[in-house]
Amino acid sequence: MLPFVFVDRTIPDEVAAYLAEHFEVEIWDHQKGSIPKELLGEKLSRAAGFMTGGRSINESFLEQAPLLKAVSTISVGYNHFDTEAMRRRGVIGTHTPYVLDDTVADLTLALMLAAARRVAELDRYVKEGKWSRSDGVKLFGKDVHHAKLGIIGMGRIGEAVAKRARFGFDMEIAYYNRSRKPEVEARLQASYTPQLQDLLADSDFVVLLTPLTPQTNKLIGREEFERMKRDAIFINVSRGQTVDEQALIEALQNGTIGAAGLDVYEQEPIQPDNPLLGMPNVVTLPHIGSATTQTRNEMAMLAARNLVHALTGLQPAYIVSELADLS
Ligand code: DGY
Repeated sequence: MLPFVFVDRTIPDEVAAYLAEHFEVEIWDHQKGSIPKELLGEKLSRAAGFMTGGRSINESFLEQAPLLKAVSTISVGYNHFDTEAMRRRGVIGTHTPYVLDDTVADLTLALMLAAARRVAELDRYVKEGKWSRSDGVKLFGKDVHHAKLGIIGMGRIGEAVAKRARFGFDMEIAYYNRSRKPEVEARLQASYTPQLQDLLADSDFVVLLTPLTPQTNKLIGREEFERMKRDAIFINVSRGQTVDEQALIEALQNGTIGAAGLDVYEQEPIQPDNPLLGMPNVVTLPHIGSATTQTRNEMAMLAARNLVHALTGLQPAYIVSELADLS
């Protein structure tokens, strides 16, 4: 009998076919909404493998899945994994790094450009029939080229952003990271800033790319916004919880910073009464960093391969580091 695998979201047909070569597979069509709790419990009671995009894999999830051996997330971030609880039950976790780096970097640049040149705001202005020849200066934005870019979290996506910014836009690149990266500094003409507060004070654009961990939870709060330039543009493509969102709202309302480009929020989907939605100087996207058809398809196939490897006794290439010793 083939092991049973449950997938809690729609995946491309070729990925479903690949999984079906190895497992008995059931896939929940998430366009219909979230799977009802009881139905999920029923699936989990016999699942050896589970594939998801962002569902919390915590104690209460795991206790419904006594046969579970591996969870594969279709994302690079895995802050929704309670790795301690998974370890206690010997459940492997895998994720999908590398395939999305360029796609997320493209979106980061899109947010920087949109916030600086007020693309979303001025798109509405034109479509609402407000364009008048006398407006002139009211439409001015801020240059991206030759500006100073401060990157918090110089991982692979940070490098891809730095490359675009340095060689496409002649930007000056500084970065703050747990560890210094001399090779990256040489290749991308980037400078290392050991103190976060110095990076914040010097940058025209601050881009937050760090993964969410206990150490980066609310890394950017009131004090950090106060350190930034009054016209600084703040971009978050990491996770909403890396920022104190209330402090961000106040910083934008009080003119402590100039503008923001956001792909992620403390609560997702964002609540309709969130003040960020009413601010013309904030570009808001619905957590779509990696969401191009090609990249999402590649991520889903990689996640499927991870699951096949994990459940057939092979070493999955992308087991999360906290659980690497379990495979
Ligand atoms: C990831 O893969 O972690 C991204 O945030 C999904 O868009």
